[in-house]
Amino acid sequence: MPKPKGTYYITTPIYYPSSNLHIGHTYCTVMADAMARFKRMTGYEVMFLTGTDEHGQKIQEIAEKKGVSPKQHVDEVVGGIIELWKTMEISYDDFIRTTEDRHRRRVQEIFVKINEKGDIYKGEYEGWYCTPCESFWTEKQLDGGKCPDCGREVKLTKEPAYFFRLSKYQDKLTELFENNREFLQPDSRRNEMLQFVKQGLDDLCISRSSFDWGIPVPVEEGQVIYVWLDALSNYITALGWPEETEKYEKYWPADVHLVGKEIVRFHTVIWPAMLMSMGLPLPKKVLGHGWLLLEGGKMSKSKGNVVDPAKLIARYGVDALKYFLLREYSFGMDGVYTNEVMLTRINADLANDLGNLLSRTVSMIEKYSGGTLPQPSVGGEGDAALTEAAVSAAAKVEAHMDRFAFNHAMEEIWSLVARTNKYIDENSPWALAKDESGKGRLDTVLYNLAESLRIISVLIMPFMHHTAEEIRSQLGIGGQEALWGDAMEFGLLGQAEVKKGPLLFPRLDVAKELEELEAMK
Ligand code: MSP
Repeated sequence: MPKPKGTYYITTPIYYPSSNLHIGHTYCTVMADAMARFKRMTGYEVMFLTGTDEHGQKIQEIAEKKGVSPKQHVDEVVGGIIELWKTMEISYDDFIRTTEDRHRRRVQEIFVKINEKGDIYKGEYEGWYCTPCESFWTEKQLDGGKCPDCGREVKLTKEPAYFFRLSKYQDKLTELFENNREFLQPDSRRNEMLQFVKQGLDDLCISRSSFDWGIPVPVEEGQVIYVWLDALSNYITALGWPEETEKYEKYWPADVHLVGKEIVRFHTVIWPAMLMSMGLPLPKKVLGHGWLLLEGGKMSKSKGNVVDPAKLIARYGVDALKYFLLREYSFGMDGVYTNEVMLTRINADLANDLGNLLSRTVSMIEKYSGGTLPQPSVGGEGDAALTEAAVSAAAKVEAHMDRFAFNHAMEEIWSLVARTNKYIDENSPWALAKDESGKGRLDTVLYNLAESLRIISVLIMPFMHHTAEEIRSQLGIGGQEALWGDAMEFGLLGQAEVKKGPLLFPRLDVAKELEELEAMK
């Protein structure tokens, strides 16, 4: 085993188990999974964390409406989330639930530590109270001045609560955004947060007493810890902090927290301030990604317009969905999801470009060489260009991945696919096969095609490993470990036994699929 290049700790947000996850949630997890697999393959010791954020008033209310306990409700939804990640083969190393004991007791210790630092004080939380719903709302949450849940009158009420001295960290946070360009990306979000912090920070209310589905405040009965303080702590409680520090020492600070744009503020203002208060290092980077929107706006369960990833996977396979999400959208920007965009992408890039390349290559090796991969002998048109494109792709993919430009990484690989398809046209193997004089050249062309496909199989391994393995199996190297370094060398294949297998991606009838997907809604 070569020595690891270092450690790499990547996290997704922990999802609210209010209801099943939709394709927007899977987008973030697919990116994190792709990065985790890519880092493992390029020599890092990776810790990839995900989980669920299970406390709070909203979850309690959903459970009450269903007539079950909050724990029963979250257990059921979390079971479904874990099942989804299993179907999608998400390679997380740990899954943290905020209702687990390991998390609860460590969050209480975090509260105590911040308190001992003098950064917590008792005050009064002012909010709009809806008596029938027993719920507090902020001014912004109100719907036309009324309770957003039941539409009834609310009254301004105060309740005793604990506060975190967020205001104390204003200067340090300003410095962070000004001096460390890498901390928050994209730049537009960094500017937004800098302005936000400069406007002045209020202290943050970190406990509630109007509901009880949460982690109890350790210094006073009847209060529970505010859900964001509870949730953000997961990134270190999962590493065992504060009492089991082996993993913490190894992986903290995190290399990257991947989060959606609307929760960037929590991760780049509140979370760093909490860490500063505890005297702990800050995460190296927070990346805010955009949203997947539908043509009519944001996906939401209440609008009934969510796209269910499990249904898409059952129909098109997990690799197709992962490829589509990584290839179609630009990190940091919103993107519109439509079934048509997805189907077109699958047909063009997967069925046509990659699928045909493999099936043409394997068929020709079977037809002209009896299935045994011939060895190269006579050089010719396009060899140098193909070889150069193939061995240089890995470094380009790495450069794009370093910037979280998944779409460009995919484009890079697909430009090698296109180059290889072009090589077939340049050399017309079927013409070379017509007489014996073309044999030497034909052998070389077939060998180079197989080699290029072998390199492609290595490059796509972190993003679509089933497809990668299927290509390798048809090339006669199934079961052999794909090493990233092998993508940088041309000519590694020996006398492999090539064998045609199933089509990688059958061509879809877009009009028919659109109808079926519509009918499934
Ligand atoms: N529980 C908090 C996160 C706590 S992290 C310490 C939360 N949960 S969430 O379930 O509402 O959202 C989790 C993530 O899913 C967020 O990063 C959010 O941006 C992302 N997405 C939810 N809908 C989305 C889309 N339609 N598109 C892309 N991402 C979306 O917030």
